[in-house]
Amino acid sequence: MTASRSDALFENLLESAQRLSFDSRSPQLYELESGDDERHGMTPEWSPLYGTPLWNSLTEQERARLTRNEVAQFLGVGIWLEVGLQVALLRAGHSADPSRPDIKFLFNECADENMHSLMFVGAIEAIGAKFYQRDRALDFFGWIFRHFVWDEVAYGVVLAGEEIFDVMQRDWMTDEDVAAPIRRAAYIHVVEESRHMAFARRKIRDRLVGLSRIRRAVSTLIIAIGTHLIAKGMINRRVYEDLGLDWEVVRANIDGNEHHRMMFRRAAEPFIEFLSKEGLLNFGARWIYRKSNLL
Ligand SMILES: [Fe+2]
Ligand SMILES: [Fe+2]
Repeated sequence: MTASRSDALFENLLESAQRLSFDSRSPQLYELESGDDERHGMTPEWSPLYGTPLWNSLTEQERARLTRNEVAQFLGVGIWLEVGLQVALLRAGHSADPSRPDIKFLFNECADENMHSLMFVGAIEAIGAKFYQRDRALDFFGWIFRHFVWDEVAYGVVLAGEEIFDVMQRDWMTDEDVAAPIRRAAYIHVVEESRHMAFARRKIRDRLVGLSRIRRAVSTLIIAIGTHLIAKGMINRRVYEDLGLDWEVVRANIDGNEHHRMMFRRAAEPFIEFLSKEGLLNFGARWIYRKSNLL
């Protein structure tokens, strides 16, 4: 019974994608506007250091360089997620009937994600920033995720990333302080990801029907661990060392930054609300989300 309702949703999403999608290969996306040299890489309020004594000690120019490095790390995690989710979801859908509406939308979603990854690379190169090597823990989780993950966990972790980026990028896309290539990329990502989020939510709900309590509890915890690693992965010591900042000082400033915690909680709010509605928040998961500053 849920299948036909879902089918209609998948078909609507595909139709919507046919009406409004973007081509990340267009060079205009990456053109700089006058003044971009001084602009930020992302809305400064999203910097984990925003408002700290360290932040206050920097010149405006140094802050702009900092957020350019930080946005490269954020979007680098975004690309890592986009590629990982494709491996996991395509693997799970490899033997399915390709004309199934959800599989057709999955093909479209993967096409989108590749374009997004290409777009993020283009935008980061356009602002003269670079990607940083990720922490081992994230890459190890990525390996496990790609090979062994099952449906509701795959879509859960994917949705976590999509929801968190959605909230942040809604700020970036309209912020005059942000360099144009990032602003444009953020807008396109927000538009196209709204369909992915509807898809993931539906997929999770369908998957939860009739799930045993043990399986639900295990999935709840693994989604929380994955989300924790994504949130922690956004902060990478190499980003700060690249600017000549002392990592211990940076870490102490970030750890004591109530503003940063508030922003991350804000970013996670829609996702946490969804989890709570679907019964995917237990005691252990709450503890993990609090540790990640997401609750
Ligand atoms: Fe994406
Ligand atoms: Fe997506």
